[in-house]
Amino acid sequence: MKELIQLFESEAKHGLYQMLPPELIKKYPKLQKNSYSRRLDDKRYEWFAEKINFSNKKIIDIGANIGYFSFRLYKEKNAKITTYEPNKKHNEAISKVKKELNINENFSNIAKGIDKDAIESLPKSDIILLFNVVQHAGEDFDSKYVPNQEKWFDYAVEYLTKISKKTKFIVFQTGYTWLGHDTALCKENEIIDFSVNLIYKAGLEIVNCGLIQDVVKPEYKDFEIKKSENIHPILNKRKELLSKIMNKLKISNNDYRFMQRPIFICKNIK
Ligand SMILES: C[S@@+](CC[C@H](N)C(=O)[O-])C[C@H]1O[C@@H](n2cnc3c(N)ncnc32)[C@H](O)[C@@H]1O
Repeated sequence: MKELIQLFESEAKHGLYQMLPPELIKKYPKLQKNSYSRRLDDKRYEWFAEKINFSNKKIIDIGANIGYFSFRLYKEKNAKITTYEPNKKHNEAISKVKKELNINENFSNIAKGIDKDAIESLPKSDIILLFNVVQHAGEDFDSKYVPNQEKWFDYAVEYLTKISKKTKFIVFQTGYTWLGHDTALCKENEIIDFSVNLIYKAGLEIVNCGLIQDVVKPEYKDFEIKKSENIHPILNKRKELLSKIMNKLKISNNDYRFMQRPIFICKNIK
């Protein structure tokens, strides 16, 4: 158990990111205290897992981290899972959890990242999960293609276009600062239009968009996309009022920025 906790809490750049899979907590209730909802994994899952049919489907989870989504889809939807996670500790954590939960089939975890040139080698699948990976291009991977912020958008269009040839649906979420720094890829109030433009340019259709609409009760709700000038529901709030609420609820700027990220269910229409 101690070894497992050490793996979950590794000090990697993306360590302490996801919550622990609920099946594991069922087995070891004491682990509940080591499962933190920093990135609203449970809320994200609750929203996207009901938007398309995951039952018995072939799923690829790119940048799976410690596998929160994959373990839930495996257990709750009987999905056939392949995870790609380049961080050795995170991938090892996935292997250990598989062992703990006696998962011996229909779940492969590959200790490899998917940079743009590796997309070709991906097997075909029904649904690809691509959560919060692409904004790291330029630092974690593909720095040759993204030497500066200006190159990011076209790169991301190409990345999504290539991925779309491998699957029917992509569940997509990205960050809006480049390399995790404060260099914004777009203005806060343009996050939705910026993403919609990116997805359309990649030749995909948006089936659904989920957005947190209230920082006090953060839950993803369906958001209807217009052609342009989509107003973000939480960015629409008056700044002074918002910072009062954030102070009171101890919502950090990082948490707030994460809450701004929409989730898109994208369909390959070609
Ligand atoms: C910000 S975390 C997101 C984790 C998870 N997808 C989520 O949203 O909860 C980014 C993850 O992508 C992984 N990663 C980094 N480079 C990658 C690459 N080239 N391909 C796939 N995953 C990568 C990191 O190790 C990390 O686990």
